[in-house]
Amino acid sequence: MISKRTAEMTSFIVMDVLERAHEMERAGSHIIHLEVGEPDFDTPACVKAAACRALENGHTHYTHSLGMYELREAICEYYFQTYQVAVEPDQVIVTSGSSPAIFMVFAALLDQDDEVIVSDPHYACYPNFIKFVQGRPVAVPVYEADGFQYRPELIKEKMNSKTRAIFINSPSNPTGNLLSEDRMQAIADLAAPAGSPHIVSDEIYHGLVYEGKEHSILEYTDRAFVLNGFSKLFAMTGLRLGYVIAPQPFVRPMQKLQQNFFISANAMIQMAGIAALKEAGDDVARMKDIYNERRRFMIARLKELGFGITVEPTGAFYVFANAKHLADDSYRLAFDILEKARVGVAPGIDFGPNGEGYLRFSYANSLENIAEGMDRLENYLAERAK
Ligand SMILES: Cc1ncc(COP(=O)(O)O)c(C=O)c1O
Repeated sequence: MISKRTAEMTSFIVMDVLERAHEMERAGSHIIHLEVGEPDFDTPACVKAAACRALENGHTHYTHSLGMYELREAICEYYFQTYQVAVEPDQVIVTSGSSPAIFMVFAALLDQDDEVIVSDPHYACYPNFIKFVQGRPVAVPVYEADGFQYRPELIKEKMNSKTRAIFINSPSNPTGNLLSEDRMQAIADLAAPAGSPHIVSDEIYHGLVYEGKEHSILEYTDRAFVLNGFSKLFAMTGLRLGYVIAPQPFVRPMQKLQQNFFISANAMIQMAGIAALKEAGDDVARMKDIYNERRRFMIARLKELGFGITVEPTGAFYVFANAKHLADDSYRLAFDILEKARVGVAPGIDFGPNGEGYLRFSYANSLENIAEGMDRLENYLAERAK
């Protein structure tokens, strides 16, 4: 028998779209991939070189369960340089990607039926992490008219004695939008009184902001967990490196989770992470400029094609476009676009009920491919209109 918790896990629909796209490719179709949230850039050369050097130099063993001290120091330095916040290396837990970090934070915070406030729409996997450790995700809708930012007053309405955490993700997947400073402050204030919930801030898209400036939750409160990783900013998805910055009392309990479940993150990739933080600045700046050019192009083309984009996204590499004029069922629409236009897109329903009617387009693909994808979409829409 498969356990109830495992059986109840929902699939990550965007992966279903991708898998169908791969099937079509095997049968000879040419697909433009705008569904996946993965940088198309090669990992920076300095990062790859550091990983190879580390392997040569014998970094093939377990490390300290919290992560190599030098990497934890580099993370603290990075947070200090970027946000002027003081974090100690003994508050950092290095993990194999940010996904295990998300799991450990919820495992450390939640007992059965404890609640976590998440925006709707949200990154598809959050509720599954919460439910797997027997907590309950409590959705707070965010609206296109607000640029999909939380309304702090709606969070407050959902808070009760069971609320253990308020989850934020800015810039956000799937919307690409940022939380404004005043809303972040208002959310941080909800966590201020002793005994109130912690804020958990997924900062994985930090650094990929093209207008305005992102802020770390640690600028507003220290009753917060920061989740971050190297996958997006440094194009290191397959190398699997992430981290948590946790309030001091949670570190030892989370260290025990790491020791038991994961032992340590990969040693040679931790060395590569140090190089990423210290040497990859120029690579990041180059990738960011290119993402920005693609962002502008994609927004303009999607608007021309009649998709609704009320507040233009300024971060991450996604455009969350309103497609309600085309269909109510974004799942069917995404698969129809895939089959007929040969363009992979992520259906809004993957990101929560309030995402229904939207499509997420990723611009982590070349300008040339994005242009081709938009042309195919134009033909698809023309055919539908006939
Ligand atoms: C918002 C968000 N958080 C976390 C992750 C997980 O990233 P990783 O485990 O590669 O660090 C993703 C991946 O798409 C994401 O979009």
